Amino acid sequence: MQDAGRFDTLGRLEDLPADYREALTAQNLVPLWPSLRGVLPPHVPTRKTQATHWRYGPLRELLIRAGELTPIEKAERRVLVLANPGHGLDKMQASAAIYLGMQLLLPGELAPAHRHTPNAVRMVVEGEGAWTLVGGEKCPMSRGDLILTPTGLWHEHGHDGSGPVIWLDVLDLPLVYYTETSYHTEAPSQPVTEPEGDKSYQRGGLAPTRLFVRADKPYPMLRYPWADARAALCTLAATQPELDCVQITYVNPETGADVENILGFYALMLRPGQTLQLPARSPAQVFHMIEGGATLQVGPQAFVLDEADTSAVPGYTAASLTNRSASSPAFVFVADESPLHRKLGVYEVRA
Ligand SMILES: [Fe+2]
Repeated sequence: MQDAGRFDTLGRLEDLPADYREALTAQNLVPLWPSLRGVLPPHVPTRKTQATHWRYGPLRELLIRAGELTPIEKAERRVLVLANPGHGLDKMQASAAIYLGMQLLLPGELAPAHRHTPNAVRMVVEGEGAWTLVGGEKCPMSRGDLILTPTGLWHEHGHDGSGPVIWLDVLDLPLVYYTETSYHTEAPSQPVTEPEGDKSYQRGGLAPTRLFVRADKPYPMLRYPWADARAALCTLAATQPELDCVQITYVNPETGADVENILGFYALMLRPGQTLQLPARSPAQVFHMIEGGATLQVGPQAFVLDEADTSAVPGYTAASLTNRSASSPAFVFVADESPLHRKLGVYEVRA
């Protein structure tokens, strides 16, 4: 009988004779055992993602300066990437699968039409008057609105208002890039074909139908107004006072599935003074403060999230969110890798 303990220390590369290592290299071969514990560590995966906090104040200042330094024609998308230092800033990723960018559009500017394989959403952070034209639907952009630009849909951004407009881009770019499937295509400006699109699913549970046939689009709803999401959270909180987790998921109204294939999107309401415990789950997650202020506790680290701040938390990590106000609710937008993990069969919640 083998004793499991006998395999604790595996052979190292340097234990092998030099001529043997050279012979392996010459044949493009690698011994597994020196790296086995690295790729299959015990119980908890190796994660490069670090708990990270991006404060909106300094980020905004640098983004507004980018507006002075770099015209839109030289940027196409004027974005400062929220890069997780655990992955290295040059990798431009917030987690293994999540990319975050804060984008600035100034009055009169146009970010030209393109489409790409990675899926994106926009969470509008500040300003009025901008719009995203996606799949022929012109979506107005207001604080807290969630606008989808899923894989393969043409999209462009314009701004008819007067002040700067800033939004948070959340993409599955790192994963799509890793799978060597990331590319984009350009096109002339797209015509508006569905100006009423986002109103079609205005009431929950009621799907527009034409002669008993439901919509067959993979992305039937592209704009999720914050006013609706906020109202849903407030109703949930008021009607279920005992509920400790006041949360909604952004779903495809035709199927009930997550709105996009790889990343999941949610909004949370923290009651006044509430601390919400979030269990360790396999996916990494991102928190963006829509309204109010919270403290995000990740192990010994505490991050003070003010309005429009953003944080990333690695997978397999418990966290808690505390509303710092004793009198007002706080609202948090959450993005995570749950749909991806569920499809891969690796989704886990740990006690
Ligand atoms: Fe894009």
